[in-house]
Amino acid sequence: MLLLAPGIRYYPDHFDPAEQAVLVEDIRGVVTEAPLYVPAMPKTGKEMSVRMTNCGPLGWVTDKESGYRYQARHPVTQKPWPAIPPRLLALWQAVGDFPLPPEACLVNFYSETAKMGLHQDRDEQNFQAPVVSVSLGDACLFRFGGANRKDKTQSIRLSSGDVIVLGGEGRLAFHGVDRIYPGTSTLLKSPGRINLTLRRVTAS
Ligand code: SIN
Ligand code: FE2
Repeated sequence: MLLLAPGIRYYPDHFDPAEQAVLVEDIRGVVTEAPLYVPAMPKTGKEMSVRMTNCGPLGWVTDKESGYRYQARHPVTQKPWPAIPPRLLALWQAVGDFPLPPEACLVNFYSETAKMGLHQDRDEQNFQAPVVSVSLGDACLFRFGGANRKDKTQSIRLSSGDVIVLGGEGRLAFHGVDRIYPGTSTLLKSPGRINLTLRRVTAS
């Protein structure tokens, strides 16, 4: 484990290639039940470049009308989200250092050209719990800073199998994905990257 900044822990190669492959199978199962959809930004309705879905009792969603929020159902199918795969619950147990289980696992799929602007994860009622994030597939350029948007940022290349934890002083660090490096992994059938983000939403 490498401490990148206060509260920002980096576990390079946390999952070996065989473990990554079974995680991808887990996510295929999730996506079969809860299809990826194109999320839209609050107010403007501008489409994000990533496609999203969730698993867990709660899922993070966004649309033009109601903005960022957690809800128990898929916004397109209206079905409850599928359960968080046991392997991801085990990851939270191993690196999360928090007594309560995660309630949401956001699945972000990045095509070769997708990115994600600098933002904070702050739609949760609980900032005591960490955010645990897994990278699968093509590598990306991940940027992170401090709790203020203007704070200096650092960039790190995240590869398939890497895990990042934002906890404690790093829980509200700004972060984003500037680019994908297509063709840097053979894990997925087609180019792109999957990011899984585990979060505790409620306070208890
Ligand atoms: C996110 O912040 O929701 C995604 C971060 C990532 O893709 O690594
Ligand atoms: Fe985030």
